[in-house]
Order: sequence, then structure tokens, then C-alpha cells
Amino acid sequence: MSNVVVAITGASGAIYAVRLVEVLMAAGRTVHLTISASAAHVMKHELGLKIDLDNFDPNQLLADHSSLPADSTLSKMKHSSSEDFALSSVLGESDLQQGKLVYHHYQDFSAGIASGSFLTAGMVICPCSMGTLGSIASGACGNLIHRAADVHLKERRKLILVARETPLGLIPLENMVRLTQAGATIMPASPGFYHNPMTIHDLVDFISGRICDHLEIKHEIHQRWGS
Ligand SMILES: Cc1cc2nc3c(=O)[nH]c(=O)nc-3n(C[C@H](O)[C@H](O)[C@H](O)COP(=O)(O)O)c2cc1C
Repeated sequence: MSNVVVAITGASGAIYAVRLVEVLMAAGRTVHLTISASAAHVMKHELGLKIDLDNFDPNQLLADHSSLPADSTLSKMKHSSSEDFALSSVLGESDLQQGKLVYHHYQDFSAGIASGSFLTAGMVICPCSMGTLGSIASGACGNLIHRAADVHLKERRKLILVARETPLGLIPLENMVRLTQAGATIMPASPGFYHNPMTIHDLVDFISGRICDHLEIKHEIHQRWGS
């Protein structure tokens, strides 16, 4: 099954999402992408990306970002002396073209991913805010992201929540237990350091790689312990 749903919500760590979409497309997957309003705000703040939710263009997410402000995170990564992080320098255009990106507005309940009859290999919410986590844990389907997550739980499909907050209060912790019991995988955005990361890119790829492992997508984007 080629379809993978990726939802980006307004937790810190938008860079994880950009890289995840890139890796999934390079793996030839069809990425069904949806982005919350808060996520668009965080992406502007953290990465300098201008995402227009009503007129989305994949280039807003996956272009080479050469025109970004010099002080944006992506731009700094691109011009860092170590391994470049610019998306088109990590993977070439041809790699990205192996997959397909299908965008759904986060309020569009008529999207295919809102229905269990639309088959997917799983859904990743990356990064996942505590707000979205709570909405899914409560069963409140206030937007397409919550609804698609609910569908993945009821259909007993993979639902990976890349949660980001620190410290964690009792309510998010209880929500995580509840969601785990319901079949979701809580995968905190907390990269390991045992692979001797040298760049932010290495840290981001640790998380992207672990997500791909759980989606059963083969990759070699980070070194494994014991390899
Ligand atoms: C710059 C920035 C960083 C944020 N980081 C986090 C975070 O790490 N975790 C979190 O749960 N919320 C974070 N928030 C707050 C969420 O964006 C906010 O709770 C929002 O309502 C989440 O909505 P969503 O789940 O629909 O995207 C952040 C907000 C901003 C502006």
C-alpha cells in the first residue's frame, strides 16, 4: 500500500515533518498531507516557510528554499559548513519525483482520508501537539487531522504520534496511555545520541528513520546500533 497520511500540527519541530515528507516521497510513497493552522504558524516561525493552507503548493514545502531569509533555520542549515540540510541537497529532485504529494485542507472532511474505506499504510502526526493528542484521545473529531487519526484507530491501522512537549503534565501523559491502549504508537520527538550525531540533520534523520521503521519502509538514513 503506497498511501501514507502525514499530518503536521503546531508543536515545535516542523523540520521533522519536512524531512519525513521528503523521505517518504523518495521511498515512492503517495503522501496525503494535511497541515493545521497552528502548524503553518510554527513553520513560518521555525523554518521561514510560507505555507498557504488555502492555496497549497508543494514547492512551499519541498523547494530548495534558496530564497529563504538568511536567518531562517533551513537557510542556516543549508549554508552550514557540515552536511547540508537543504532539501534538494539531501535528496535530488529526481528522488522526490518518485513519490506523489496529495494535499488536503485540514478542514476538508470530504477528503478520502476521512473515511475508513480509503486504504492507507498508516498515518503519522509529526510533530504532534498536545492539543491534537488530547482531541484524538477524547474522540472529538474537530478537524480532518483528528478524524483521519480516529479512522486509523478504528480500522486498526498504524497511527504514529510524534509528540513534542516538555515537561509533560498529567493530562497529556494520561492521553498518551489512552491512545497507546487504543492502538497508537507514541513516538516522542526525542532523538537518541548513541549514533554520534554531528549535525541537526543527523538528529532529524534519527526520528525520520524510526518513523519509517514503524511504517515498515526500508531506509538507510541513519546508522543503526549494532550495524
Ligand atoms: C512557536 C510555537 C511552538 C509551539 N510548540 C509546541 C509544542 O512543542 N508542543 C505543543 O503541544 N504545543 C506547542 N505550541 C502550541 C500549539 O501550536 C497550540 O496548542 C495549538 O493550538 C495546537 O493546534 P493544533 O494541534 O491544531 O496544531 C507551540 C506554539 C508555537 C507558536
